[in-house]
Amino acid sequence: MTPQIIRKAVFPAAGLGTRFLPATKAMPKEMLCLVDKPLIQYGVEEAVAAGCNEIIIITGRGKSTMEDHFDGSPELEANLAAKNKTALLEIARSVSKLARVTYTRQAEPLGLGHAVLMAKEIVGDEPFAVLLPDDIVDATVPCMKQMVEAFYETQSSILASEVIEGAAISAYGVLDCVPHPKNPRLLDVKNMVEKPKFEDAPSKNAIIGRYILTPRIFEMIETITPGAGGELQLTDAIKALLKYEKVYGFHYEGKRHDAGDKLGFLKATVEFALKRDDLGPPFRDWLKSFPM
Ligand code: UTP
Repeated sequence: MTPQIIRKAVFPAAGLGTRFLPATKAMPKEMLCLVDKPLIQYGVEEAVAAGCNEIIIITGRGKSTMEDHFDGSPELEANLAAKNKTALLEIARSVSKLARVTYTRQAEPLGLGHAVLMAKEIVGDEPFAVLLPDDIVDATVPCMKQMVEAFYETQSSILASEVIEGAAISAYGVLDCVPHPKNPRLLDVKNMVEKPKFEDAPSKNAIIGRYILTPRIFEMIETITPGAGGELQLTDAIKALLKYEKVYGFHYEGKRHDAGDKLGFLKATVEFALKRDDLGPPFRDWLKSFPM
């Protein structure tokens, strides 16, 4: 059988972003900027680097700035061209040329599983990537590219996983799993549980916001009932998928930032700014002189 490839990437971006209020009252959380780039653009660039050429963004009310961001901007471009600001013109143009982006709406934020289900018709009958835009993974090889490479081997669903120590594990979906006999990065998933109490967590392997899923997941989402938080949980649908197919955890190489959380966002901002050639040196000097 010809190995399947991952061409489509789904970005659930219809949530309310309550952890980031008041910023997210009228502005999508996914448009918050790490230094000078919106969170969603980091994710889209990662998906494109992994070979995905079709980006599907799940939007909701008040989220239209994302559509403007990935669209052409004739007035801005004409203005920059007239002023010979070629470097800035290239930045503005490159965003709209990143990939083919389509949008579909989730009328109500009924959960991550429900958001992914909104992409069913556009994805069709092929495996696809899911990236949560508020999880930013800083990696030499983009996280989704690492996962796509692992998928060539498994041809099964893969969930990016991170080891979380202590009680913080209760904020995540957690894998009940054993190491893969051949590939040290893969975990053989037996079961999973969404947001367990610390004492009930089956392992320290938390699921983070990067998934490769087979199309049967849509059927599974349609069968589940609301779980933790009264939402249709993607974790519950993947758990149902386990009855039919193998699912793997994947220990990616890189550092994840929870940019949907205020403290996580601040840390990511400092780290990303320090890494920049243009901003890093003066920012570091300023930080050193900052009275602590
Ligand atoms: P989060 O739980 O991090 O986002 O979901 P949220 O619900 O917007 O944020 P808080 O917890 O209230 O602060 C991860 C991603 O899934 C999307 C969100 O937009 C976010 O990008 N999502 C979540 C949906 O698209 N629809 C939903 O029903 C829930």
